[in-house]
Amino acid sequence: MEGPSLDEYRPDHPGIGDDFLIPQAWENYSDTEHEVWETLYKRQIELLPGRACQEFLDGLDKLKMPADKIPNFDELNEHLMKLTGWQVVAVPGLVPDGIFFEHLANRRFVSGNFIRKPDQLDYLQEPDIFHDVFGHVPLLSNPIFADYMEAYGKGGLRAMRHDCLQNLSRLYWYTVEFGLINTPEGMRIYGAGIVSSKGESIFSLDSDAPNRIHFDLPRLMRTKYRIDDYQQTYWVIDSFEELFAETAGKDFGPIYEELPDLGSYEPWDVLARDKVYTHGTQEYAKSKGRMPVHAA
Ligand code: PHE
Ligand code: FE
Repeated sequence: MEGPSLDEYRPDHPGIGDDFLIPQAWENYSDTEHEVWETLYKRQIELLPGRACQEFLDGLDKLKMPADKIPNFDELNEHLMKLTGWQVVAVPGLVPDGIFFEHLANRRFVSGNFIRKPDQLDYLQEPDIFHDVFGHVPLLSNPIFADYMEAYGKGGLRAMRHDCLQNLSRLYWYTVEFGLINTPEGMRIYGAGIVSSKGESIFSLDSDAPNRIHFDLPRLMRTKYRIDDYQQTYWVIDSFEELFAETAGKDFGPIYEELPDLGSYEPWDVLARDKVYTHGTQEYAKSKGRMPVHAA
């Protein structure tokens, strides 16, 4: 299949290279932009103790993530490099899949260098530096999660060759972005899309509307997701060791061979074989357009 060349995707940004990276240009952020970071940071840090997993909260401390200004990547990277060898690098916006995976496979996490406007605190479509850095980077200080992300990058390049990227993207979505972890202290958040959102930090744990189901790789890779609303199903792991063993520890080759013949599940589906923690309400599923589908 002949896709558009990378040149067509690459934004016309001064200094951008083949790797889509740009300088963060930290000195160019305005006071208003630093204040947006501060507002969002304070809002989340009040909410997250007892909600985010301990590994995430420890990561904020270990990285000395600033509360009152946008982090300078050079300073952040000094801590991150010592902890796990990861680096945060700046991009102007979303990058093509292959570029994204290549960076992850080399322990580079790409972050948008821009921040949302003061009237976009609760929602914006493209991930900004608050989502990317506050949401994603703390867990990169955890050795197991750090290895998971690198393995995911390598797995992404492999999935592209198998034409199964859509299935692998679901794994990223339901773990890295929207994952929950069942700890001895209770259900906690680790997904970056949740910890960077005030509304979903509350909804994902407290609401009885969505399903919460134990992580099951082949099942999850067949489940569609929505990008424009809170999730209808959250997938729960017991530990990062479990997540790593079930993904990096497995050869996806046989799964990729089967997947093209198997259909997809809707985001709200609950199956007889699912290990369900909480079964969401029918009202919520209905409000999304369909009754929950029970298929064995
Ligand atoms: N083990 C996967 C494969 O064989 C790669 C992978 C690792 C995917 C970690 C996701 C996360 O393709
Ligand atoms: Fe993200």
